[in-house]
Amino acid sequence: MQTQTLETPSMNVFEQLESEVRSYCRNFRTVFHKAQNAKLWDTKEREYIDFFAGAGALNYGHNNRKIRDKLIAYLLEDGVTHSLDMATHAKEQFLSQFHEVIMKPRGWDYKVMFPGPTGTNAVESALKIARKVTGRTTVISFTNAFHGMTLGSLAVTGNAFKRKGAGMALTHSVFMPYDGYFGEAVDTIQYMEKLLDDPGSGVPLPAAIIVEAVQGEGGLNVASDTWLQRLERLCHQKGILLILDDIQMGCGRTGPFFSFESSGIEPDLICLSKSIGGYGLPLALTLIKPELDVWKPGEHNGTFRGNNLGFVGASEALDYWKTGGFREQIEDKANRITASLERMMERQPALHGTLRGKGMIQGIAFEQPGMAERLCELAFASGLILETSGPCSEVAKLMPPLTIENSTLEQGLQILEHCYNQLAEEAASA
Ligand SMILES: Cc1ncc(COP(=O)(O)O)c(C=O)c1O
Repeated sequence: MQTQTLETPSMNVFEQLESEVRSYCRNFRTVFHKAQNAKLWDTKEREYIDFFAGAGALNYGHNNRKIRDKLIAYLLEDGVTHSLDMATHAKEQFLSQFHEVIMKPRGWDYKVMFPGPTGTNAVESALKIARKVTGRTTVISFTNAFHGMTLGSLAVTGNAFKRKGAGMALTHSVFMPYDGYFGEAVDTIQYMEKLLDDPGSGVPLPAAIIVEAVQGEGGLNVASDTWLQRLERLCHQKGILLILDDIQMGCGRTGPFFSFESSGIEPDLICLSKSIGGYGLPLALTLIKPELDVWKPGEHNGTFRGNNLGFVGASEALDYWKTGGFREQIEDKANRITASLERMMERQPALHGTLRGKGMIQGIAFEQPGMAERLCELAFASGLILETSGPCSEVAKLMPPLTIENSTLEQGLQILEHCYNQLAEEAASA
């Protein structure tokens, strides 16, 4: 057992030397030192349960022992670490494993592109291909979408604060209402169809539509299977490419490997990053339908595309998907989370919390501003790390590693319930 102390590590070095742009270290004010699966320890030995999982980059937990052993062995045998996009054994193994474990069982045929090793790079590359293939420039994205921080990705991202950071006009994008944006009564696919059919609508025929099946940063909004199917049909009818951004929701976050699988759609382009590297190592993939792979050699380059440690981590992580057992475990844990959140909300009706999300990304949405932030603050003070989501930070979002032990999950949920009750007391006395 770690001894808990009340001492807080100093943040002086970060405050003096690091840019003002830093964000997570402002909310989680401590200096982290060690981590194992769903737990983190700071330099004062204080223990934290991680319901944040590197914003979705740590689906297989911190320092996953199996993956770590493979990485150490690779390093000790002087395996190539950096290779641009040269052919390496590590890349060969990853491509074969990805084909065998992910593509083949689904009967899918996609070419794998390695853009620079970040999510935004996968999105940029998908946008470029769509424009190159169709010869059109506009891309449709959705209200509350989040696709990354570089200019192309930011242009299809909804958040006003993040967009303002660009310091210039973000162009060639049109925003449409996501599933449920106007409530259940409004059919947003029909709305989009009408605008695209009407030469007077001012909306040009786009090169692509980019969508998240579950919006992670945008407030845990879930698109229905029917909505996704109709979106795909609309794209096919009009010759628009469908880009599915599975950067945060992929690699099992919602249950199956891909978040959109239950809809049966087959997007033209799929963006993956975050947990694909297995160990929190930078890696990104753009999956391209073969007939759309129109790149000229080197047309979308990047120094760090050949992150071989990422390939080694990714290959080992795919072992989790060789059978259906991992998915069943995720579903079981997701049910525990749902049951626990429902109980908390039922016991404190005055907080008017509502359940959001799906699988192992669920959360509580609040009507009153500041409540989700306060809940995360109380949780952190009690040794639980979780962050907010949504355009007004109105959702407290739970995203533990998929590999979290049931006991740690229960422990974290108990802490959260305690904090939720505390929040209700504070609200009642305000
Ligand atoms: C859905 C989605 N797309 C793209 C990105 C951008 O990924 P990165 O931060 O690695 O550039 C994120 C990051 O949170 C994301 O959630």
